[in-house]
Amino acid sequence: MNNIEIEIVNTVKEKVEKLLRGETTGHDWFHTERVYKNAIKIAQGEEKDNKIDYFILEVSALLHDVADHKFGYTDLDRENIIIEMLQSQGVELERIKLIVNIVNNVSFSKGNIPESIEGKIVQDADRIDAIGAIGIARTFAYGGAKGREIYNPENREGAHSIYHFYEKLLLLKDNLNTKTAYNMALERNKFMESFLEEFYNEWNCGEKR
Ligand code: NI
Repeated sequence: MNNIEIEIVNTVKEKVEKLLRGETTGHDWFHTERVYKNAIKIAQGEEKDNKIDYFILEVSALLHDVADHKFGYTDLDRENIIIEMLQSQGVELERIKLIVNIVNNVSFSKGNIPESIEGKIVQDADRIDAIGAIGIARTFAYGGAKGREIYNPENREGAHSIYHFYEKLLLLKDNLNTKTAYNMALERNKFMESFLEEFYNEWNCGEKR
């Protein structure tokens, strides 16, 4: 990145930090900061086979949860917020469009895969932060914010946080776009499996299920 690009990334960082700081459903600034750092790490693992535009990558990672539908915004709202933020810093509309396209296609619930390598990496970095110890913490924080029970064995299909491991978290390692992210996911996945095993042991007070 050139100096101007580095400066824009830093400004975006400050703005996003202000917007997301103190958010309590697991999509706070520190989540975005980890996605940003892991996106760079994944990119470094992938750059021998791909030409990566680090400006597009870093800005997209920083903006990936800004004005998200989880917070009641539409894709169009978000597009307008991003265009305004980046145009005021002199980013060309063509590059802004690439960033908007990535941000609009990252989320798990939509089931899309971004076309660009930068988008694929940001999606992987977001998924990496949904698993492992951090993923476990975020799952219960999000469940609590949504009024979900921790666990309810009588509600197998249901809206409790443990169910979320089976409908999403344990599936993520096989839904990554890059080999580098897959390698990062293995350890985290193992950790979730042993967490669940210990959870059920304690839940059942040592009795066999
Ligand atoms: Ni996210």
